[in-house]
Amino acid sequence: MGHNTYFLAQNQKEIGIVPPDFLNETAMNQSEWIKKDLEYNWHPYTQMKDCVNFPPILIEKARGAKLYDANGKFYYDTISSWWSNVHGHNHPRIMSAIKKQASLLDHVLFAGFTHKSAILLAEKLVSLAPEGLRKAFFSDNGSTAVETALKMSFQYWRNTGNRRKTKFICLDYGYHGDTVGAMSVSGVGLFNKVFSPLLFSAFKAPSPYCYRCPLGKTRDSCGIDCVGLLENILREKSDNIAALILEPIVMAAGGMIIYPPEYLRRAAELSRKYGIHLIVDEVATAFGRTGKMFASEHASIAPDFMCLSKGLTSGSLPLGATLVSDKIYKAFYGDYREKKAFYHGHTFTANPISCSAALESLKVFEDEDTLGKANKISALFHAGLERFRALEIVGDVRRIGLIGALEIVRDRARKKPFGFEERIGQKIYKEGLKANLILRPLGSIIYLILPLCVKKNEIEYIIDKTYSVIASIKPKVTGGVRPLCD
Ligand SMILES: Cc1ncc(COP(=O)(O)O)c(C=O)c1O
Repeated sequence: MGHNTYFLAQNQKEIGIVPPDFLNETAMNQSEWIKKDLEYNWHPYTQMKDCVNFPPILIEKARGAKLYDANGKFYYDTISSWWSNVHGHNHPRIMSAIKKQASLLDHVLFAGFTHKSAILLAEKLVSLAPEGLRKAFFSDNGSTAVETALKMSFQYWRNTGNRRKTKFICLDYGYHGDTVGAMSVSGVGLFNKVFSPLLFSAFKAPSPYCYRCPLGKTRDSCGIDCVGLLENILREKSDNIAALILEPIVMAAGGMIIYPPEYLRRAAELSRKYGIHLIVDEVATAFGRTGKMFASEHASIAPDFMCLSKGLTSGSLPLGATLVSDKIYKAFYGDYREKKAFYHGHTFTANPISCSAALESLKVFEDEDTLGKANKISALFHAGLERFRALEIVGDVRRIGLIGALEIVRDRARKKPFGFEERIGQKIYKEGLKANLILRPLGSIIYLILPLCVKKNEIEYIIDKTYSVIASIKPKVTGGVRPLCD
């Protein structure tokens, strides 16, 4: 038995995995798999030419906070597979709920038909969500959950006789997905720049990015004055604005920008004051990431719309949900001839298998006291993150719940970032992989979003190794502009 085969067999035994038949029957080694991958697949957010020298890693299986590649090497899933995994990979209860549902009903159209998993899931989400959210509209992913909210808000105003409210307001470092509507209300960084001519115009308020305060103030004495920049736009333009959309507390893809709950509370108040809807995009922040079930709870706000996905199924299957208030729902409710219905949907709306995974995930939250445990262990995580302040290239350390972010800078005193060409994040990512970590960067932001199942010894390992990786980076000296969403 070769070295790799030995570890593979050990890992399979350890985590009780039986490979599916089609994999057993396909006798190819790892490099043959990668060759085939590059022959047929086009990966997201990837310059495929980079894959020639830096190919994707063939992942074969996963358990808890770990992914295992085809050589048996493990990686801590330190970004929870794009911020989706919550209870750990292949959680036995979620896997068994999926199998049970699959044996009964794989899929059914959701217009004219319904099913028990969607009914129970909608009821559960409404019972957990902030006050006032009463109905769930299901879709497939985070972008569709956002598109649904934007279109519903737009149509609400039409249905209620206001044809002037056709615009949206958002934050300049916000990110809400890659579909055209979601891109239109996101910050225009590297992700969206090329598509700018396609997008509809939206008002963009400066973000509450404390490390690079739009007003040049410091957090201890700022009075959250940056919310005034949002109000300035609303004062002039609210007659034309349908809704404010924002990510509560953590602006994730924009650089894991963590902002004070007071900003969120006041932004919610402004939405009421100026008669616009509030859409909270909790796609990345919900399901315990920030220490609360929903990040909106940090500011006790009552939004009109809440967008969910990612952690909804504990990252096991695709599902999106847009929760709405009764006021919104009622504006669409009427006689057929009034043409008030919401003519929007997706083939896999409320897929039964995805709904059953989500429902089980929410039960696991209760039965395993997931939030209580995550909140206890996050103290250790936060203490570990504080150590990074000693490193010269770490300009800022941000943390909340099991999210931690390090803003890497070339010149700490002047907060000067590295140059785009230097790909400092990419260098750290490559070193991280050698140390069993996935430090996939957002430009020059290195972050950890740990699954809520993470254990004490795992946090210690992840922090120690991340520290060694970042401490080992010896930068060249060149200029730079902080790129948004590299
Ligand atoms: C806040 C937020 N909204 C929406 C999305 C889009 O979700 P999806 O990638 O499932 O379309 C993301 C994805 O990262 C996100 O972070």
